[in-house]
Amino acid sequence: MSIKADEPVHILLVGPPASAKTMFIKSLMNLNSSYFTDGGNSTGMLEYIFDNKPKYLLIDEIDRMPTKDQTFLLNLMETGIVSQTKHGKSRTEVLKTWVIASSNNIINIIPPSKSRFFIIELEPYSYEQFCQITVSLLIN
Ligand SMILES: Nc1ncnc2c1ncn2[C@@H]1O[C@H](COP(=O)(O)OP(=O)(O)OP(=O)(O)O)[C@@H](O)[C@H]1O
Ligand SMILES: [Mg+2]
Repeated sequence: MSIKADEPVHILLVGPPASAKTMFIKSLMNLNSSYFTDGGNSTGMLEYIFDNKPKYLLIDEIDRMPTKDQTFLLNLMETGIVSQTKHGKSRTEVLKTWVIASSNNIINIIPPSKSRFFIIELEPYSYEQFCQITVSLLIN
């Protein structure tokens, strides 16, 4: 529903390890104009966003993203107006970007950033679901 929405609706998936968060976010790389980054290694993200203006920004493990980059996301998510100062020059862009992110927990995400997301909490798999997934993975 977020992807089909006319205006950006930002999604944060929160769930325990091995609940397919990364798998889901990576599958969204099939969308046109998407950019995938890992919160623990978001170097170059700002440059890419300014240069390519992706429609979908996919961020795995956003809780590991440095506060500076999380702060940049605030404006992107709220108004779409982003600025960057580099080598004494600043540039500003107006973007329409959906942010779809994942995290193991929401403790390390700064509160203003958290408030801009529609948060989806994933329950741990039941034993039956775990067996079903494992069998299907082993067969395929
Ligand atoms: N619903 C599922 N269907 C198929 N495979 C699954 C499913 N859930 C988990 N898996 C398997 O578990 C592996 C681990 O999932 P993934 O790395 O996406 O979890 P994660 O939620 O990102 O975990 P982490 O919080 O540790 O990063 C996947 O590569 C896949 O093989
Ligand atoms: Mg993961």
